[in-house]
Amino acid sequence: MGRPDFQGRSNGGGFRGPSRGGVQGARGGGFRGGSPRGGFGGGRGDFGGSRGGRGDFGGSRGGFSPRGGSRGGYLASWCRGGFRGGPRGRGSPRGGRGGAGGMRGGKRVIVEPHRYEGVFVVKGKEDALATINMVTGESVYGEKRVSVENEGTSVEYRVWNPFRSKLAAAMMGGLENTHIKPGTKLLYLGAASGTTVSHCSDMVGQDGIVYAVEFSHRSGRDLLNVAKKRPNIVPIVEDARHPHKYRMLVGMVDTIFADVAQPDQARIVALNAHNFLKNGGHAVISIKANCIDSTAQPEAVFAGEVNKLKEEKFKPREQVTLEPYERDHAVVVAEYRAKGKK
Ligand SMILES: C[S@@+](CC[C@H](N)C(=O)[O-])C[C@H]1O[C@@H](n2cnc3c(N)ncnc32)[C@H](O)[C@@H]1O
Repeated sequence: MGRPDFQGRSNGGGFRGPSRGGVQGARGGGFRGGSPRGGFGGGRGDFGGSRGGRGDFGGSRGGFSPRGGSRGGYLASWCRGGFRGGPRGRGSPRGGRGGAGGMRGGKRVIVEPHRYEGVFVVKGKEDALATINMVTGESVYGEKRVSVENEGTSVEYRVWNPFRSKLAAAMMGGLENTHIKPGTKLLYLGAASGTTVSHCSDMVGQDGIVYAVEFSHRSGRDLLNVAKKRPNIVPIVEDARHPHKYRMLVGMVDTIFADVAQPDQARIVALNAHNFLKNGGHAVISIKANCIDSTAQPEAVFAGEVNKLKEEKFKPREQVTLEPYERDHAVVVAEYRAKGKK
């Protein structure tokens, strides 16, 4: 399947298919799509329009912009396997030691810190988002790994595919602040098999924690397997509509990330916020318009969800749409019980 023909986002992040796959890292998030070979190529339908880009509540930049500009970086070697772009259905995370993400040195690339703490850019012909692998030598869902040698120590990064993760897609879309960084206490609603949760686990690191809620037992099994190797993930196989069922497991959190794709998502987020989100904390919510109202314009649906959040003591802070990675999706960030700020 060919790449979508997506021209220009309001944040300056153009998408011009088809050419060879990959994200060509540049400030402002340039993206040139391409074939299913490597990079982020392949598998998506035709998105057509260009509603993408930044939304209503401020913020600015998009895509890849390493913190501090193009300083230094580290030389890395690509590891084999896994990352062939395009979304796949749910199911077992793949990879693991010796699996699809096994080591094989080779082409040298540069890794730079992204402006999001805990996130990196693997530079090269195909720039990509990545996180430091908390479980060296293992992939979670078949993603590519990159190893960096620096003065006798080695750091391994896991490449993060925005076609497989709405959080990564929002970063590519120019989200100003994910509110997830080293040390963050994160409540993640709609964890599925743990694909994005695993990158959040890398981001928050040893000093942070990810409470990962998923109500499907099938996905929950995969999630439990991911959590076995990552001590900072607390897997919770429960319905996020009933936070009292897991209140004994969850402490107060800095951030809630929600990706439950349910019509009552705003209510679910609010219920969890009232139980677990600290004042001044943030909700980062992925909204799939047609899950809420398939007859309305996506923008109207997003606005409606923002209004619901306002009624629940949230102040909207930013909004990005997820084209070209997801059609008719937005990520909204809102602050809970904000004090003394406009
Ligand atoms: C779009 S998928 C999430 C994908 C995941 N966030 C990722 O990036 O890897 C939505 C998930 O939310 C789960 N879900 C839906 N409603 C839920 C609820 N009320 N409580 C817990 N999980 C729910 C679904 O079972 C599904 O796995």
